[in-house]
Amino acid sequence: MEQSNVGPPVARQTFRLAWPAQHHLDRRGARFGGVGVQQLRHQFAGRSALGWRIGVGARDRRRRDTAVAKLRAAGTDAFGVPPDVTDDASVAAAAELIADHAGGLDVLVNNAAVTGGMPQTPTTVAPATVRAVVETNVSGVIRVTNAMLPMSRASAAPRIDNMSSSVGSLALHTTPGIGLGQVPAAYSASKTFLNALTVHYVTELGDTNILINSGCPGFTATDLNGFRGVRTPRQGAAIAIHLATLPDDGPTGGFFDDAGTVPW
Ligand SMILES: NC(=O)c1ccc[n+]([C@@H]2O[C@H](COP(=O)([O-])OP(=O)(O)OC[C@H]3O[C@@H](n4cnc5c(N)ncnc54)[C@H](OP(=O)(O)O)[C@@H]3O)[C@@H](O)[C@H]2O)c1
Repeated sequence: MEQSNVGPPVARQTFRLAWPAQHHLDRRGARFGGVGVQQLRHQFAGRSALGWRIGVGARDRRRRDTAVAKLRAAGTDAFGVPPDVTDDASVAAAAELIADHAGGLDVLVNNAAVTGGMPQTPTTVAPATVRAVVETNVSGVIRVTNAMLPMSRASAAPRIDNMSSSVGSLALHTTPGIGLGQVPAAYSASKTFLNALTVHYVTELGDTNILINSGCPGFTATDLNGFRGVRTPRQGAAIAIHLATLPDDGPTGGFFDDAGTVPW
């Protein structure tokens, strides 16, 4: 799943959007980062030799700088990008920064997300919570994707990974015996919304070479769930790397986790 899918050693500039930065290390000692930084550190380390340049998105400057420094120390060609996905100007500035630093963009990983807090059932969730969750998890993806799209269109091997979740799968929720149980209403629906967007982007951009997919990292121990997840960040990161490094004849418009296809 790793090196074999890297493809030809063409120059790639990878923009990593808002994947968790240094705060996990600060809070938990041994933990280097959440899904995103583990992914960068373990999976991309060494790929600079193939021409990868990685933009690490994180809003907090200290966390961003520390994450970039660690990645560089591990041999990865990394630079920091400070986008707030809910802010047009911030995202536009991020696109400019990437163009300046990397000269283009091949892989966009839309990773930023919020849960909106718990509890969060359909009968109790506040409309304001729904708006906030959708603003980050859905509108943020649209905002970022569209800002980066000129660079994606110009890339020889563009990939867009939307980090979704199996809790966004209506098929799983409605299949007897699957047992997803009560999941956060706004968060879960935001991932269903995101999955729909993956499909609609592929429909609109079907005449391009951009491969766009949704990926689920599985229940991973990160800030998002108070570190209750059962998968390690490294395990959670694998699917994003897989989708980021798909070969040119790889799938598009799909929903995947480590085990294969996730039903919509
Ligand atoms: N962990 C799981 O079990 C699990 C399961 C299924 C799917 N996922 C998905 O996997 C992805 C990564 O999640 P994670 O577990 O690594 O969670 P995480 O550690 O909470 O990371 C989410 C990141 O999103 C960033 N973010 C939130 N709002 C933002 C905004 N407005 N602008 C820019 N960045 C923003 C956060 O940055 P700050 O640190 O600055 O707040 C944080 O770094 C998410 O899309 C999540 O829905 C996770």
